[in-house]
This record gives sequence, structure tokens and C-alpha cells, in this order.
Amino acid sequence: MHQLVIEQTKNFVKKTLAEAEAGHDYWHILRVLKTAEKISEQEGGNKLVVILSALLHDIADAKFHNGDESLGPKIAEEFLFSLSLQPDIINHVVKIIENISFKNTFSGANFDSLELQIVQDADRLDAIGAIGIARAFVYGGYKNNPIYDPDLPPNLSMDKATYKKGNTSTINHFYEKLLKLKEMMNTSTGRSLAEQRHQFMLDFLSQFYREWDI
Ligand code: ADP
Ligand code: NI
Repeated sequence: MHQLVIEQTKNFVKKTLAEAEAGHDYWHILRVLKTAEKISEQEGGNKLVVILSALLHDIADAKFHNGDESLGPKIAEEFLFSLSLQPDIINHVVKIIENISFKNTFSGANFDSLELQIVQDADRLDAIGAIGIARAFVYGGYKNNPIYDPDLPPNLSMDKATYKKGNTSTINHFYEKLLKLKEMMNTSTGRSLAEQRHQFMLDFLSQFYREWDI
């Protein structure tokens, strides 16, 4: 019934993200969409809100727009408005986009809903496991960060501003974020999907240090 709205949103997102960095491109969006739908099958939630939020959650990531955190929600709102969707659906999707990001966990959440929990779990699952490792190195490369620096320990008590600067080694990023995500899952379906991906990162790190210290 909402097929047309979903197709129009997919086309809009695909076009908008055509030049996006590989870790936040349309493929990331499609993976998050699929995972969010899978979690939603178990956990429930309003399907249309889950789908639209997954599709629009990175429409203008602040990292790539001079730190402007209001741009993504604004673009999403204008787009959804142009589709003449019900205001309560639009408001909910915009709230989710405002609150989904990892960096906002530093300031504490000011909004919660089952649909936010589902899409946030799906986004976090794409940051861990084999795909999460690939994305971390893509992002580290984009920032020209070192792969690893034994003299640069991870900063486990980062504030939001330090985290956003992202001046760290990509191996440190595992301790600063990726290995924390399993415990941060909102839903039990998300948590169970995180288990194996988390273990894969631990195995990757063990192998990495074995090769480093040969
Ligand atoms: P969100 O978009 O949920 O706020 P982030 O911006 O923290 O999340 O991260 C998005 C992606 O970029 C994730 O896959 C994450 O691991 C990666 N990333 C973020 N910061 C770094 C970093 N300093 N080094 C490597 N990868 C990073
Ligand atoms: Ni994302």
C-alpha cells in the first residue's frame, strides 16, 4: 500500500548519496534497511516508519557537512512533506534521524521509540562484524588515519567533540566504539545478531596483533 512512497524514497536516497563515501553510501542504506526489516519482523513496530527511517537516516551525515547536525533531519522532513505523508509519520521519522547517531549517545537521548531502537540496532550492526571492519578502514583511510600505532593508546573516555574529530588509529576505533556496540543493542533480536559479529572482530584483532608482533 505504501509501495509508491517507498520507491520514491529509495530513488531520492540513491540519487542524493550517489557520490557518498563508501562507508555511508546507498549500499549501507540498503543493508540497514534489510536488517531493520528483519529485526522488525521479530520486534514489531510501525513498518512504514522503520522503512523510511532506515532509508533516510544518513541522508546528510553531519560528518560530511561541516558538522551540521540539523541538515539531515531538515532534508528528510522537506522530502517527506513533498510526498504528502501524515504529519505524525513525518515527525516520527525526523525524530529518529535526529537521535540515531552514536555521537548523540554522549549527550544522552531525548527521544525514544521502538522504531528508533530497531533502526539504531540495524545501523549499529552494520558498524560491526566483517562489514563493520571494512567500513572502519574505509573511514580511517578517508581521514588519512594510521591503521595502528602502538604508541597511541585508545581514548576510552572521549567526549563528543573529540570523537567527532576522529583523529585516532583505526585499530583504536575498535576499542573506542565498535567493541562497545554489542552491549548497546536496544532489542534482543539486535543483541543476538550482534554476538557473532562481535566475536569476529575479536578474532580479527587477535590475528592482527599476531601478524604485527611476528
Ligand atoms: P554514526 O553515523 O552512527 O554516528 P559514526 O559516525 O560514529 O556513526 O560512524 C559511522 C561509520 O564510520 C562506522 O562504520 C564507524 O565505525 C566509522 N567510523 C567513525 N569514526 C571512525 C574512526 N575514527 N575510525 C574509523 N572508522 C570510523
Ligand atoms: Ni548509518
